Amino acid sequence: MSRNILVTGGAGFIGSCFVVQQVEARNNVLVLDKLTYAGHLVNLEPCLHSSKFSFAPGDIGDAELVARCLKEFRPDAIVNFAAESHVDRSIHSAEDFVRTNVLGTEQLLRTTKDWWQGLEPEAKKKFRFLHISTDEVYGSLDKNSAPFTENSPYAPNSPYSASKASSDFFVRSYFKTYGLPTLISNCSNNYGPRQYPEKLIPLMVLNAVSNKPLPIYGTGLNIRDWIYVEDHCEALDLILSKGRMGESYNIGGECEKSNLEIVYFICEILDEVIPKSDGTSYSRQIKFVADRPGHDFRYAIDSTRVKKELGWTSRHCFPEALRKTVLWYLDNSEWTKQVMDEDYRKWLHQQYQDFDSSKSMEQKD
Ligand code: NAD
Ligand code: DAU
Repeated sequence: MSRNILVTGGAGFIGSCFVVQQVEARNNVLVLDKLTYAGHLVNLEPCLHSSKFSFAPGDIGDAELVARCLKEFRPDAIVNFAAESHVDRSIHSAEDFVRTNVLGTEQLLRTTKDWWQGLEPEAKKKFRFLHISTDEVYGSLDKNSAPFTENSPYAPNSPYSASKASSDFFVRSYFKTYGLPTLISNCSNNYGPRQYPEKLIPLMVLNAVSNKPLPIYGTGLNIRDWIYVEDHCEALDLILSKGRMGESYNIGGECEKSNLEIVYFICEILDEVIPKSDGTSYSRQIKFVADRPGHDFRYAIDSTRVKKELGWTSRHCFPEALRKTVLWYLDNSEWTKQVMDEDYRKWLHQQYQDFDSSKSMEQKD
């Protein structure tokens, strides 16, 4: 039976992937999105003309708008992707992170709870609120520590992760206090098409082909666990339909790589598919730059719960999915033109202007 799903933040990277999958599965989807610098309707192109899809521009913190969406659309579920998502931006200023991730999420919960309490018992029982969160709430691991489980203590280190941790706690509190049927997922680093090119993988691909430096923070030895975005969204679908109310589910790709490894993989792909005319490797553009303040060393996820309880597995393997991702950015120049606008150039200038203090690959060696 088809479901009505209200997807907040559905015009962003992961949200748009989830929306496309759900529309393909013949569910009705209403996207509520503020269209910040990171949100673009072009991300939803595959379903913009579907009768299963509708769009409401706006803020999750706008109680009147959200209440109207709930009344008219009558969702069986809300999936909350809406957030400020970039760690480096949160270091420059945490204000928008507090406004959307903390206050916005709490307002969304409050408006939802008020509406949900008035539903008929059957609809009330069926309803789910799935909050999309991150492994960064657990803080940083050493090289040899065991991966994060759902029982790992919260220890956020960046303003971004502090705001996400706070939102997770509000979600938890609405389950405990009001019985709102909530679920939380904590996922590791996603990669794939349509990721805003402030994040490591698209930034490196697009800088490389523009003959710009590839800025590696610190030593480049920090480790992230990488998951293909479609695999993440498939896990979310399972959590939504079969997850236990009030629970958290960790989702990871079992694919730990250092940042330097990632950038070398990207350069190898580019060297093969668009070799430079002078025969040199794109890796010569690598620049070691000042480290990210409070830079978490390593994230790793134990996905046992989502695998054992819900039967999830990730379908994509890293080398092929990374290659597919790199090729997507090369083949979609219309998309890159649209998202790499004036705001984007301002961001690059604010974050990376200081290349003078950087060391080139040759100097480091
Ligand atoms: P993104 O930055 O690409 O997209 C965020 C979307 O939210 C955008 O469309 C934006 O317009 C919208 N938005 C922002 N503020 C809003 C507001 N106040 N009201 C309505 N819409 C608003 O982010 P993403 O990478 O797709 O991440 C989505 C969610 O997943 C976030 O909650 C993030 O914390 C979480 N997450 C991301 C990753 C990752 O690797 N990208 C990993 C784990 C968890
Ligand atoms: O772990 C999940 C998180 O992954 C999500 O919650 C966040 O929303 C998402 O942005 C991502 O956070 P990271 O900070 O890990 O992602 P980012 O792509 O910004 O950086 C990945 C790693 O690469 C990190 O160790 C910092 C490093 N880096 C990043 C950039 C942008 C560089 O060395 N140079 C760069 O220019």
